[in-house]
Amino acid sequence: MNLINAAERGLIPDGLLRFGIRRLCAQRLRDEHGNDMALANQRFARLLHDLHNDAIAIETQAANSQHYEVPARFFELCLGAQLKYSACYYPTGNETLDQAEQAMLALYDERAQLADDQDILELGCGWGSLTLWMAERYPRSRITAVSNSHSQRAHIQAQAQMRGLANIQVITRDVNTLDLPVASFDRVVSVEMFEHVRNYAVLLKNISQWLRSDGQLFVHIFCHRTLMYPFETQGEDNWMGRYFFTGGLMPAADTLLHFQHDLVIQQRWLLSGTHYRNTANHWLHNQDRHRSEVLAVLAATYGNNNAARWAQRWRMFWMACAELFGYENGNQWGVAHYRFSRR
Ligand SMILES: C[S@@+](CC[C@H](N)C(=O)[O-])C[C@H]1O[C@@H](n2cnc3c(N)ncnc32)[C@H](O)[C@@H]1O
Repeated sequence: MNLINAAERGLIPDGLLRFGIRRLCAQRLRDEHGNDMALANQRFARLLHDLHNDAIAIETQAANSQHYEVPARFFELCLGAQLKYSACYYPTGNETLDQAEQAMLALYDERAQLADDQDILELGCGWGSLTLWMAERYPRSRITAVSNSHSQRAHIQAQAQMRGLANIQVITRDVNTLDLPVASFDRVVSVEMFEHVRNYAVLLKNISQWLRSDGQLFVHIFCHRTLMYPFETQGEDNWMGRYFFTGGLMPAADTLLHFQHDLVIQQRWLLSGTHYRNTANHWLHNQDRHRSEVLAVLAATYGNNNAARWAQRWRMFWMACAELFGYENGNQWGVAHYRFSRR
């Protein structure tokens, strides 16, 4: 605990922090029996069973205030131009953050088989990176964007007005209580919201009902290649679960394939964790470039006395993401894309 306190007070150099994070990644692989197929499978099966008894998403208030009601200005200072709060794509490794955002959005376009004149639902729309991109590229499509954050809705609506986009509707709703007309969408797309979800069976059933008969679901998640585990909030080692990912889940690359009752997998793609490592390192670099303005925004959010500690917590969060996804050169944790059609 003292070590974490020292880290949060900025007393530990980044290189040492990153070394410590890599050791925690190794510990996680040991704890989850990453090298013992039979034991890992037992844990996987138990958690899979438990997920069926949970709400669609849990601890939604905590998750919302941890990230999604932090002022958009903070994310404008750290993220790329599209405010994409999820892994970007670095096909050569030399892309800028803005180029990598665009590259990932183009990949969604191809893999989700987006086209003009579609009704598209985006679940977990963030600050509108994909919603605004789709609305601009496909002016005859109608986009419904959903998230549980009021400030995200305000941001997207302001952007839509500024860019003259009239084909976007934003709904602020917890996905647990989201109720939409049956058979009303050609596409449902979701980028890094499913990590906040527990009961995939119920959510995928709901989505299948919202889709038209020839509709498709496209999902982007981060994942481990075989292991699935929740982010715990208790205990000394659970800094991430406590401050940044309460109620969150690390899905395995094949978790969603166990939930094909209503939707059937068409294709799955796996991307190296190095794409997320590069993204998180870019976010950290941006935060450091805007140090004084970041401190001012965080002071308004967390109070003057807590701003410096929270600025360092966010720096530690970006480093934790970079080291986790970069672990073993991106071959343990990574990103997965899926396209499902209705059964
Ligand atoms: C990691 S962000 C990704 C944002 C966006 N898709 C992007 O790529 O920039 C997760 C998104 O899911 C939303 N979300 C998380 N839990 C939710 C819930 N229970 N109900 C509705 N939206 C939720 C958050 O508000 C946020 O918009």
